[in-house]
Amino acid sequence: MTDVSPATPIPPADQSARLDALEAAVRARTDLVPEIGIVLGSGLGGLADDLEDAVAIPFAELPGWPAATAPGHVGRLLLGRLAGRPVVMLQGRLHLYEGNAPGLVIQPVLLFRRLGATAVVLTNAAGGLDPSFGPGTLMVISDHINMTGLNPLIGPNADAIGERFTDLTDAWSRRLRARLHEAGRAEGVELADGIYVGLTGPNYETPAEVRLFASMGGHAVGMSTVLECIAARWAGLEVCGISLVTNAGAGYTGEPLTHAEVLAAGAEAGPRFARVIRRFVADLE
Ligand code: HPA
Repeated sequence: MTDVSPATPIPPADQSARLDALEAAVRARTDLVPEIGIVLGSGLGGLADDLEDAVAIPFAELPGWPAATAPGHVGRLLLGRLAGRPVVMLQGRLHLYEGNAPGLVIQPVLLFRRLGATAVVLTNAAGGLDPSFGPGTLMVISDHINMTGLNPLIGPNADAIGERFTDLTDAWSRRLRARLHEAGRAEGVELADGIYVGLTGPNYETPAEVRLFASMGGHAVGMSTVLECIAARWAGLEVCGISLVTNAGAGYTGEPLTHAEVLAAGAEAGPRFARVIRRFVADLE
């Protein structure tokens, strides 16, 4: 069951047995039942330091999960308390561009659900498609466009997890988006709102692609999140998320894009981001 290759396809129908093993591995270490799951994107892992009574499990110690490879991604599952509330966090995530199958990329959010969470916060670093979104902009994700060409729900369905045809009308929960904006106001942190375009990466986009995605209605572009949202909705989780715009989209400034600027923007925005999420978690009903 714990295949050696993270690229091995995992159809939905195989997820339940894998989640049994993952749940057992977590429950061998802690009986904390999280209310909320949080995926921390590139450069945003600092929020994990705010966790109280944390139990940290490296990805490599979870059955079927590979060690995280992306720079800026520690690669740990953490359970603990944030602002007094029980949460589960993914510090780092599993990306498609690392060679992970879509069915593996979504296992963290499915595991959140299995452990008891009913809501998930997906965060990421992204390039700005909206020219008014400069580096450091925090954008509440209002909707997404899946441009990966992939779908984690292809294959025999697991009716015990979710139904065959997942509705994405309110994929990015109106209720939770309003809560994020309230948290931003309460903390005096400005939050934008916009549509996230998800690709596989690992290359950054061409300027022509950036113009295309902007003309399609996108506001930020990145290499994660969309498959996790799809799977979370499939499994019945309420979803919200924040993109940290770390750079203007390719071609806007004439300068090349670097991973260093992505991490630098994360370091700059990390404390603001952490305040919003803490407040959001503290006030969530
Ligand atoms: N494109 C895709 N992913 C990203 C970018 C970008 O410009 N910046 C940070 N992650």
